[in-house]
Amino acid sequence: MEKGQQLCEAARNGDVAKAKSLIASGVDVSFFDRNGLTPLMHAANLGHTDVVKALLEAGAPWNALSPSNQSAGDFSMDAGHQEAFEVLLNAGIQAELILGTIARKTKKNGDSEGDYLEDRVTFSEDKLMDSDSKAVMMAWEKPLMEAHAKAVCSGGGNILNVGFGMGLVDTAIQQYGPATHTIVEAHPEVYERMLRTGWGKKNNVKIIFGRWQDVLSQLESYDGIFFDTMENITKT
Ligand SMILES: C[S@@+](CC[C@H](N)C(=O)[O-])C[C@H]1O[C@@H](n2cnc3c(N)ncnc32)[C@H](O)[C@@H]1O
Repeated sequence: MEKGQQLCEAARNGDVAKAKSLIASGVDVSFFDRNGLTPLMHAANLGHTDVVKALLEAGAPWNALSPSNQSAGDFSMDAGHQEAFEVLLNAGIQAELILGTIARKTKKNGDSEGDYLEDRVTFSEDKLMDSDSKAVMMAWEKPLMEAHAKAVCSGGGNILNVGFGMGLVDTAIQQYGPATHTIVEAHPEVYERMLRTGWGKKNNVKIIFGRWQDVLSQLESYDGIFFDTMENITKT
């Protein structure tokens, strides 16, 4: 049997010793089997946390997607394997923090790639545009945002939204009267507009200004979380 296939089998069996010996022999940890699944997805799906850890340490991609667009984290979450899920979530957060730091350093060193967060944005009645006149958020997305708000507020309690944009989802969230409604927003002009339009004065609203990656320590536990930052926005 091919070594990648053997690693998938070890992952399914929760056989951490076998997985480690295959890794030491140089097997490709980002192998996809014929169903489009990686060893990490197999381990995550069955809640084999030790194998998940060994694979992540060996550089297995936490963000690889199955043919149905599911990551290893999705597999562990859907199957109710909380411990494996948290290990995968932390791997994703750490990668994001490291990549963010590298991106900022590269930029300081004179790299020409611009950052949306440092560009001017413009608001009109029905859209938020970046400095290249590319739409960041448009009014036609309102029904979609309302559906998201309904889902994240279904259990009531404390709600977190990351990325204010035009405030469509936050306006909808407010209609459900959550106990608390925390909003993380990183763009200075979007933040300034939030304050100008009264969001800072709403009783249940707490605004945290900054990149979510930089303000993690200010976040708490939430009953519903919505995340929509469009962080792939970069200028070339
Ligand atoms: C697509 S818009 C969000 C639209 C919003 N869901 C709505 O209903 O109007 C993305 C927002 O995320 C903000 N953003 C981008 N990167 C961010 C980051 N790292 N942390 C926090 N906010 C960020 C942008 O400034 C922008 O306001």
